[in-house]
Amino acid sequence: MNDGYRTTARIAGLGRFLPEKIVTNHDLEKIVDTSDEWITSRTGIKERRVVAEGEGLLDLVVRAGKAALDDAGVEAEAVDLLIVATATPEQPIPATSAIAQPQLGVVNAACFDLSAACSGFTYSLNVARQFIATGAAHNILVIGAECLTRYTDWSDRKTCVLFGDGAGAALLQPADAGEGILHIDWRTDGTLADFISMPGGGSRFPPNSRESIDQGFPFIKMRGNETFKVAVRAMTELSLDLLKRAGVQPADLDLFIPHQANQRIIQAVGKRMGLSGEQVYSNVHQFGNTSAASIPMAMVGAVEEGRLKRGDLLMLTAFGGGLTWGSALIRF
Ligand code: ACO
Repeated sequence: MNDGYRTTARIAGLGRFLPEKIVTNHDLEKIVDTSDEWITSRTGIKERRVVAEGEGLLDLVVRAGKAALDDAGVEAEAVDLLIVATATPEQPIPATSAIAQPQLGVVNAACFDLSAACSGFTYSLNVARQFIATGAAHNILVIGAECLTRYTDWSDRKTCVLFGDGAGAALLQPADAGEGILHIDWRTDGTLADFISMPGGGSRFPPNSRESIDQGFPFIKMRGNETFKVAVRAMTELSLDLLKRAGVQPADLDLFIPHQANQRIIQAVGKRMGLSGEQVYSNVHQFGNTSAASIPMAMVGAVEEGRLKRGDLLMLTAFGGGLTWGSALIRF
């Protein structure tokens, strides 16, 4: 069933951390021209978590990472690689993973951040799997974390209702073929880079430039409707392709966790893949779109709710800015 690797990576532990503050659709009704009815029917989202004043990405990263280490029963010193997947880092320099290293106690780990927007966690799983398969690393901590609400234009009803903050983490260790990651793959289409973007805050329009602020560049912009269509097609095609390569029928999946961006996307992908409602996990109503954090946060939720158990056949699929997408078939 696996893709020919003799050694692969298994998820030995999971953790997540969510900011305390909850913003409901009714709260948003007070600041933009929207309604709970519109947000619920178009996205499935009811509420989202938002970082408090003084909080930043680092706080979420450290708490989620520690929870995954505890869950795996692995000492922080044993971690040899830390990857933080994020589009909303603590600060531009240095990498959030480097800043988090001492607080996490992963003093022997090389640290880098990975930028693939909402696909960041699945991209990181693929990178981590390669390092484990070659024997270059034995304990890899992957953390997907976002503070999207810090880059949200709260006067733009097309985006501000969608995003939330949070972090999820996984500790990966070597496994024999047949366990852990069985198949994993990724795709990028940079011709559609402007579908989801934040043009300000980089080298062309630096955060300190008047032009960047005046033109509203330091905010996430999205061509929602066009993104929706590509997201459904891309996640469905890649996921079905992986199942085919593995010789697995959709009905054999115990759980399917797609990126939590929109309930209508989640349902459309599930339906096109021929999955039952029971097989498809969703918590988008609780947390909104948390980008790179969405899948590991959903895995923790699924375990806590008894919907994901050791030995289950699990499929993950993500989609986001880049455009990027990725899927993984895992014997959990
Ligand atoms: N409240 C009320 N009305 C609204 C709101 C709102 N919050 N937002 C938009 N509308 C209006 C629009 O103005 C439009 O009105 P008009 O017809 O008078 O112009 C109407 O509702 C329909 O707007 P659409 O954009 O066509 O609505 P759609 O059904 O496509 O839903 C949404 C929008 C929710 C954004 C959806 O397209 C979507 O989920 N897209 C994909 C998101 C995604 O998957 N992103 C990838 C990951 S994100 C990342 O990488 C960070």
